[in-house]
Amino acid sequence: MPTISIPARALQLAAHDDDNLLKVLRRHEVPIGYSCRRGECGSCKCAIVSGSVALDACSEAALPPAQRAQGLVLACCARVRGDVALRLIDSDDYIAPPQRRLLTRVAALEQLASEVFALRLHIDYVDRDGAPFVFAAGQYASLQVRNADGAWIARDFSMAGTPVQAEYDDLLEFHIRRNPQGAFSGLLGSVLVPGATVWVDGPHGSAHFRPRHAGALYAVAAGTGLGPMLSIARTALDNGKLEPVRLYAGFRSADEVYGVAELDALARTFPQFAAQIVVEDGSLGRRGRVGDALLADTAAFVGAKVYLAGSPAMVDSVAAALRARGVAPGDVHADAYYPPQAAGGGEPSPPRSIE
Ligand code: FES
Repeated sequence: MPTISIPARALQLAAHDDDNLLKVLRRHEVPIGYSCRRGECGSCKCAIVSGSVALDACSEAALPPAQRAQGLVLACCARVRGDVALRLIDSDDYIAPPQRRLLTRVAALEQLASEVFALRLHIDYVDRDGAPFVFAAGQYASLQVRNADGAWIARDFSMAGTPVQAEYDDLLEFHIRRNPQGAFSGLLGSVLVPGATVWVDGPHGSAHFRPRHAGALYAVAAGTGLGPMLSIARTALDNGKLEPVRLYAGFRSADEVYGVAELDALARTFPQFAAQIVVEDGSLGRRGRVGDALLADTAAFVGAKVYLAGSPAMVDSVAAALRARGVAPGDVHADAYYPPQAAGGGEPSPPRSIE
């Protein structure tokens, strides 16, 4: 049986031949960054110190050939081939709450904008000892439901509520854009109605709130990326963060805009908080792209952390612009919404949906 060792943490992890390296690390609750789980985002990068792994196909942008030549690998695309020693990258501040499987039922379905809904799930049952479900603000979970034909449909969505709501009220909230043809989101209002059963696996993801950070916090959301960014901002403020918290919410048009009342309420309660609504077509709020608004407003990001949630194009372009402005990669925490893979795409598990 192969062993994965992490000398810097004095860890020795048992694995099986052909195990997915990221799954091994998650199984042992090793705090490693990850997001897409399919070789596109690059956040699960780690270094092979000794031994070797087999690498499945991945994006060159996520793992450039020069980095591969230096022994870097993407854990989500690596398969175990014997004993390996690893070095984790930028993992000091990761939080890895234990993964759970939850039985939930739809408590409410609220329309927030023309095709955007808040899906609220009441947690009826948690595996593992009956301990409460714990996640870090900004993380996501896999939601699984049977469609009208009895087939299981699974998609990943970020938690829009706070960890406190989950732990004390047994309530999870997700913001979902409905696509009538969407395999999952198309079920909103038909199969996904109050009382319906939804299984939830999670939490996942490393683009979560860093509670030990002291400095300005910028949260940039496109579309339903507002859900996890609201969760991060609200958690930071509720935790007593006194430094500036700025949330930029971007939408394509006025009919997609939501969350204004909640953002206004936060601004009234917390003087250190401010929000900008940025609408691409200029039909409401500030005109333009959300990332451009952040960059135009902020002369320097010294000591700040930036959290991003939205499409890969938005996340990549804003992260690149921040790097060009001198923001360290470890201070940019991003989860991009990758479109679902075609049926039969196999491992890894379904990505978060932008249906
Ligand atoms: S590249 Fe591995 S999680 Fe995204």
